[in-house]
Formats: sequence, structure tokens, C-alpha cells
Amino acid sequence: MDVLRILRAMGRSDPMQFWRDMHAVHGDTIALNLGLLKIWFFASPEAIYEIFVTQNRTMRKGIGYSGLRKLLGEGLITNDRDNWGTQRQRLNPVFSPGAINNYAGSVHDACEAGMAELRTLAQAGKPVDFGHAMTRLTMRIISLAAFGVDLTQGHDEIVDAFEFAFAFVADITADPIRAPLFVPTRENRRFSHALAIIDDFLDELIDQSKSQSKAGGMSGSIFSALEGNDRKLLRDEVVTLYFAGFETTARTMTFLMHLLPQHPQILAQLRSEAQGLTRPAATDNVSRMLPVATEVVNEALRLYPPVAMMARQPNADCVIDGYDVKANSLVIVCPFLAQRNEAWWPQGSAFAPSPETPLSERLLHRGAFAPFGAGARMCLGKHFAMVEMALAVTMIARDFDWQPDDPSPLGLEFHGTLRPARPVIGQLSVR
Ligand code: HEM
Repeated sequence: MDVLRILRAMGRSDPMQFWRDMHAVHGDTIALNLGLLKIWFFASPEAIYEIFVTQNRTMRKGIGYSGLRKLLGEGLITNDRDNWGTQRQRLNPVFSPGAINNYAGSVHDACEAGMAELRTLAQAGKPVDFGHAMTRLTMRIISLAAFGVDLTQGHDEIVDAFEFAFAFVADITADPIRAPLFVPTRENRRFSHALAIIDDFLDELIDQSKSQSKAGGMSGSIFSALEGNDRKLLRDEVVTLYFAGFETTARTMTFLMHLLPQHPQILAQLRSEAQGLTRPAATDNVSRMLPVATEVVNEALRLYPPVAMMARQPNADCVIDGYDVKANSLVIVCPFLAQRNEAWWPQGSAFAPSPETPLSERLLHRGAFAPFGAGARMCLGKHFAMVEMALAVTMIARDFDWQPDDPSPLGLEFHGTLRPARPVIGQLSVR
């Protein structure tokens, strides 16, 4: 394939589909030479583990994150600078498993607030767009549980601004042949407008949250961890936590809204577990309280990892899974394919949660399940996300009946995160 055709195929079509097609022909390791840029694609657990864990020190996030930097600035996810380690060390204690157990009661309350909103939606009796409903739900949860701020007004405007801005930066990443931001194209102007809405919202969130944070709780810990950051870095860290906090969980929950009605036995197990649900105390461990919900979420993350592909650039020549990779190549890692590979997961692409034998006990290679990444750059919010999603899916199963209008398998597209290729629309009613 010539360079232009490759760039066009990657940028204009769904980049995930491009790599899935290439993978079907060439297998787990693919090298493309685009003249100045060499691209490596890896989907084996061995390579994933090496890139994230054993060779992490050689890797930077690099050009694969340049689009996202336009939205998240130099926050933890996109930060390639020397201060990443200090920022991460400051925030680690706030998101440790022990700390998250302490905050699980607030996460529970935030999920209940989200259920009240879903109830209103169900009572309106109209078809529900579950993707949108799950984004509202997870945004409300992160606002309330992590920042102590409830989103009551202007919620949809903020959802829309984030959705547009994220889609825009995902497009920039997939298709670098675009007009630079300073050129006032219609799309660039819409992006600037969305960014202005987001920045106003963040200013308010930071001010409100800081005044709340005197009362302690998770927002208190976040702001004392970020004490001393100038306003720009504070903005970047807050938007990163906020955005990472709702986008990925919304996508996982949307897939679950499509999957669960087609697996009545699993839904029944969830409902029976939900009968014992109480507000977690600081000493409770939510994954032990809710083993079925935890496995259901893990299985959704195995099949539909929101961050289905990630990028790195090595700072020096290195060897990955036996291949010589030159410094500054673009390295793409694909947990999505590793997590469906039948050599590692006998159930392949079938949704088969197994609470009797948790996923961690079925793991054949540490690189075969990496929805949260791995190693030093592993997701900071992993424990928060697992607690949040286990509680949210339990409450939804407890409180609602629902059915997608089209239960046929969902096509997939990767637009910054992995999404259903069509909206998941359906009926929702209170049980
Ligand atoms: C389903 C839920 C989630 C998934 C699947 C997920 C996935 C990931 C992945 C794969 C990475 C690593 C990216 C890379 O190495 O290139 C990451 C990083 C990160 N995530 Fe999450 N995430 C989730 C939820 C959250 C939540 C709830 C928060 C915060 C409240 C969060 C905050 C972060 C941060 C700050 C980083 C950057 C860590 C660093 O580089 O130091 N994530 N996430």
C-alpha cells in the first residue's frame, strides 16, 4: 500500500476498522513504513506487557496524544514532561483502593441521584438514548462524588460541548491532514466555542469545589493534592480527571445497557445481588460486596475496552516482542484484540461473565487484560471506576426494566473511545 492510501484509510475510515482488517490478514504484529514515520501495531499480550510495564521508561505518549492535548492540556493522561511523576505521586493516595473504599458511600449517593434522574426519564415514557443517558449519569456521578458539585443546570450544554470537543480532537488524531486550529474553518470555530463552554464550566467547578472542599471528602483531597499548581495546570488536571471520569465509564455502561437484556440469567443474578445492596461503609470493599456486578463490568471491559487502542513513541531504539523498533516510531497497542483472542480467552467475543471464577483467576497472561492500561501509566481512576460502575449497574438492574429497540449485535467504531456504531435507543420503565 502506498503512503497516501494508508493515511487516507486510517484517517477517513474508522481507524479501529483499519487495524482490525490489517490484523485479520497479518496477525498480532504489523509494521508500516510511511517514509518519515514508521508505525508499529502490536496486539499480543507479550508486547502489551513490554510496552506498558517492562519498557515503560523508554516510552512517551508522543504524537498519538497531540489531539487530546488540545482538550486536556498537560493533565496526567497527556503529560510527557518531567513533572508527570510529581503530579501522579500527589494524586495516587486520593485514588488508592483504600481511599476509594472510604469514598464509596459518596459514590453510592451520587449513583442514587443519577437513578432519580433516570426514573424521571423512564416516567416520561419516551424512547431513551442510552448513550446520552449514561453520559449524563456518569457526569453527574463524577461531579458529585469527586468534586462535591451537583449538576442541575446547563447539564446538556456541557455534555454537548464535551462530546463535540472530544469528537473533534479524536478526528485530528486520526486524520492529521486538516486545517490547523488558527484557520477559522466552521469546525475550528465550533471547537473554540465548545472549549469556551468547557473552560467556563471548569472555572465554576473549581471555585465551587474548592469552597466545598473545606468540608473534606474526595474533592478536599483532590484540591489539597493539587495545591501549588498554577491555574493552568490545575485546570488541566481537573479537566483530565473530570473527562476521564465520565467518558470511559459512560461508554462501558452503554454497552452493558445493550448486553444485559439479552442475558436474562445474568440480569437475574444482578437483581438478586442488588437485594442486599446497602450504602457501603468505609471498611467495606465494593468488589467483595458485589461480586456479580464486578464480574459483569469486567466482562464488558474485556469485550468493549473504551480505550481500545493506545499510542506510544519510544525515546530510543528498542526491541519489542523480538522486533527492532526505532526511536520515535509510532507504536500502537491494541488491548481490544488481545482481550478477544481465543488463545487467551476461550469464550472469545461472547459475553460470558463468570462470577464463580473471577476474571483475575482466568487470566493467562498479564498483558491479556489491559482495559486500564498497565504499569506506571495505568489508569489513576481504576478503583473509582470499578466501584462506580458496579454500584451503578446494580442499581439500574434493581430499579429498571429496559429493552433496546434493536437487540442485534452492535457494530463498533473507535472515535477516541470505543463506541457502538449506532445509537442504543430503547424503552426504559421503572420496576
Ligand atoms: C471504564 C473506566 C475507565 C477506563 C477503561 C480507563 C482507562 C484508562 C486507560 C487505558 C488509561 C491509560 C492510557 C494510556 O496508557 O495511554 C487511563 C489513564 C488515566 N485514567 Fe482512566 N479509565 C477509566 C476511568 C477513569 C476514571 C473514573 C478516572 C478519574 C476519576 C480516570 C483517570 C485517569 C487518569 C488521570 C489517567 C492518566 C494516568 C497517568 O498517565 O498517570 N480514569 N485510563
